[in-house]
Amino acid sequence: MENRARRPVIAGNWKMFKTRLEARAFFEAFRPLVAESKHCDIVVAPPFTALAAAAEAARGSAIGIGGQDMHWEREGAFTGAISARMLIDAGCRYVIIGHSERRQYFGETDETVARKTKAALESGLTPIVCVGETLAEREADRTNEILKRQFEGGLGALTAAEFSRILLAYEPVWAIGTGRTATPEIAAEAHGHIRKLAAALFTLEQASALRILYGGSVRPDNIKGLMAQADIDGALVGGASLDAKSFAAIVNF
Ligand code: 13P
Repeated sequence: MENRARRPVIAGNWKMFKTRLEARAFFEAFRPLVAESKHCDIVVAPPFTALAAAAEAARGSAIGIGGQDMHWEREGAFTGAISARMLIDAGCRYVIIGHSERRQYFGETDETVARKTKAALESGLTPIVCVGETLAEREADRTNEILKRQFEGGLGALTAAEFSRILLAYEPVWAIGTGRTATPEIAAEAHGHIRKLAAALFTLEQASALRILYGGSVRPDNIKGLMAQADIDGALVGGASLDAKSFAAIVNF
């Protein structure tokens, strides 16, 4: 931890869980458990309806609030959509973009990821851009090719200055919600590949400054092994971020 070149980020993605009341109860329990945790950036991404309550409950702490998705337009006739400006208004500093569940169930493409990422940066939000292969793609030995397509398609049009402000999350689809975590070695190999892609598209210096989070069945009992890998700079946690104690244990790896 002490010798890290990059500051760790531990982020929780609540997905479609928790009401406002449940969000407030979480922060009441979580805040004291991470009050002394200065070694990493902490992010919680509640559903839209609980964002403002979460931001209010996190006020005065170092915990950043994030949205789980956004539209690229500032406003307009887009029923059901939320803009970056609205996320900021609700108290967000971060936004998750291109999560595999958005790609799988809601038609997210590399092109929409690119538009959303650009819009998030322009509005001042820090995007957490997700990439990751499915089980079929991994078994067909296509992992690197898929990561390249998603990385270049989603981030290729960013300027160097924009790229330096993003966070990347590697989330192999087969490890999400399955209890089947990638081994630290498998995750580190993918992170290394992503860093090479970043160096090819931007500069070596920018690639080594990029913070890459691992996501997929991260729990208190496997975070230490993951964080021991030099190329793993943090975690994007689903299920285990819903419980204050378990998420705090991950933050305090
Ligand atoms: P789980 O931690 O529940 O596997 O979810 C990972 C994830 O998708 C975080 O964005």
